[in-house]
Amino acid sequence: MKRRIRWLQWVFSAFVAALSGLLFSSAWASSISAPGMPKLSTPSVLDTASPNALEISRLFWLVMGFSIFVMAIVTAFMIAGIIGGVRDRDHSVEPPQTHGNLKLEVAWTVIPLIILAILLVPTLSAIYQLDGFAAPKDAIEINVVGRQFWWEMAYKDSGVVTANEVVAPVGTAVKLNLASGDTMHSFWIPQVAGKTDLVPGNQRTLWFTPDREGVFYGHCAEICGDSHANMRLRLVALSPENYKKWQAAAQKAAAPPKAELAVTGSQLFISKGCVNCHAVNGVNTYNRTGPNLSFIGSRTSIAAGILANTPENMIRWLRYTDTVKPGVAMPNLGLNQEEAEQLTAYLESLTLPGFDIKRAINSSEGTEPVKVDDSDSAEPKAEVPTAPNNLASLENAQ
Ligand code: CUA
Repeated sequence: MKRRIRWLQWVFSAFVAALSGLLFSSAWASSISAPGMPKLSTPSVLDTASPNALEISRLFWLVMGFSIFVMAIVTAFMIAGIIGGVRDRDHSVEPPQTHGNLKLEVAWTVIPLIILAILLVPTLSAIYQLDGFAAPKDAIEINVVGRQFWWEMAYKDSGVVTANEVVAPVGTAVKLNLASGDTMHSFWIPQVAGKTDLVPGNQRTLWFTPDREGVFYGHCAEICGDSHANMRLRLVALSPENYKKWQAAAQKAAAPPKAELAVTGSQLFISKGCVNCHAVNGVNTYNRTGPNLSFIGSRTSIAAGILANTPENMIRWLRYTDTVKPGVAMPNLGLNQEEAEQLTAYLESLTLPGFDIKRAINSSEGTEPVKVDDSDSAEPKAEVPTAPNNLASLENAQ
């Protein structure tokens, strides 16, 4: 019986290992990237893309080092005990009893205390440095609102509003003011910063400085409803020159559609009511119930990062909203294939005027990371931002 249970345990463990391997390797490779699309990095916390994440990974290795050290000592004693026990054939003699041994009790209380005290110093220092209030003064400020199940990014200085993709320049700090529009979410782009919760009625801050170009995968890290697993995001880190071009382009209005299919699609955008929730520069600027679609044609992903931005995926998304993303607020409008194609033609025509962001990302592949000077980053501003009513203050900040 016992042997059978052990055997079942092995099968179960192998099954879980195989399943997680499968999920992690193929899931985002297949659905969220497409040929010609910028390559999406694997979101490893150890493959860092900012000094902030590097700080966290250093802390990880420090804790790991202590853990391995402790484990090695405990294992060594254990092995020595087993060997000694096997050698000592005379089992009739009771081994020495150590219960109530004061020296041992003190030793295993004080040693962990010392280890934890040593770890406390760099941990507190990292928490302090990585908090939003320690962000450099010249940081680009972005108000991020998490909603079921997407992210709004509103750039404080330029007024650019976008969704699900943070665009930022390499070498400049980005400060995020995080708020929630409904329930709790958690902002997490593993390669650039740690998780920070978005709490209703409370504003949190986070900052990081991207140190290399690329597209970095992010994910909501707090269970927030049906499609928590489908609430993803991306960081698009551009060279400073390209960022300037992006910012200039994103402030303009998209060129009106020319192709017949897209023109019909633009009419559907109004008549089907899309315009009531979504904003498009040049059409309506202040509708923020749903994601801002101004330059959706230039984004690398759709549906909050779960699908690569291809016409096929867009049609699928528009026709089967609730199947693609259960619990989504966007209603299924019952579009037929033809209407979905027209609407897709329009949405894909909404590209950044004069700036091909996908080409910019693709051509940057393989470029060396820049050295980010974070010497002044530890200098915190005097005041900690207080904004209890997050949403109202975010709206006013626009
Ligand atoms: Cu938002 Cu999980």
